[in-house]
Amino acid sequence: MSTIANVEMAAAWDGSEGEHWTEHADHYERAAGFSWQRLLDAVPIGSRDVVLDVGCGTGRSTRDAARIAASGSALGVDLSARMLEHARQAAEREGLSNIRFQQADAQVFPFPENAFDIALSSFGAMFFADPTAAFTNIAGALRRDGRLALLAWRELARNEWLTAVRTALAIGRQLPEPPPGVPGPFGLADAEHVRRVLGAAGFVDIRLDAVEEPTVLGVDADDAFAFVSTVGVTKGLTQDLDPDSEARALEALRRTLIEHETDAGVLFAASAWLITGRAGA
Ligand SMILES: C[S@@+](CC[C@H](N)C(=O)[O-])C[C@H]1O[C@@H](n2cnc3c(N)ncnc32)[C@H](O)[C@@H]1O
Repeated sequence: MSTIANVEMAAAWDGSEGEHWTEHADHYERAAGFSWQRLLDAVPIGSRDVVLDVGCGTGRSTRDAARIAASGSALGVDLSARMLEHARQAAEREGLSNIRFQQADAQVFPFPENAFDIALSSFGAMFFADPTAAFTNIAGALRRDGRLALLAWRELARNEWLTAVRTALAIGRQLPEPPPGVPGPFGLADAEHVRRVLGAAGFVDIRLDAVEEPTVLGVDADDAFAFVSTVGVTKGLTQDLDPDSEARALEALRRTLIEHETDAGVLFAASAWLITGRAGA
């Protein structure tokens, strides 16, 4: 891999997190499906566009972008070798030839300058230790007036998919809240922070629009339980419990998932920002 600035994130994503995301790619890609469609509707990709997908993971978004930019191309970058391997194989199966994947830290990777028409990310741009440096790097890869379109979670309290899982697994314990503004799922949750960072990185016409679309954790409660009971959050919140308490916590999780079962799958409210901007002069 090329130079890495985000060493701890690389250890997680190129390690156990990436393994889990690869094994459960269908679940994760389905979970982000509604909001990803909102990004595509709001920021149309042109048929000749050259697209950069930041933190592309298993590459569903990169493949969609390559399909739409049929006379252009798409490059997906990510820290995880396993997720990228999954992405490459899926692109090959789908017969996409205008697509490439690169294992890289988007904060420091030497992208070609002024090369991309659009840089997008589906929940892959919240993890930078130095977001201003990262977005400056991404801005330099965009041509003048090139577009930026990011999905990123709003604060925890607005995201029932996580608060409900945490409440179930807490079994009465007081859990620490993820601190705002630190690299992680809520790293771009604060609107003022996002405006400051993107402005300092040279973006203009910065907008944050709320995307309130449900997230699907499984096709039914059993499917959702098989998925959610093995995610990193669940492992983290159960690892210090004795066996009886762990069994109670997992039973509480199962009940929560059953309560959210609908004909359209196991649905939870979710709230993200669609962050858009243009690369300045
Ligand atoms: C929450 S996952 C989202 C994956 C994918 N975009 C999706 O929607 O399924 C975050 C992704 O961002 C990647 N990532 C985190 N920090 C990164 C960095 N500095 N450079 C490149 N990718 C990064 C991770 O490896 C991971 O695949």
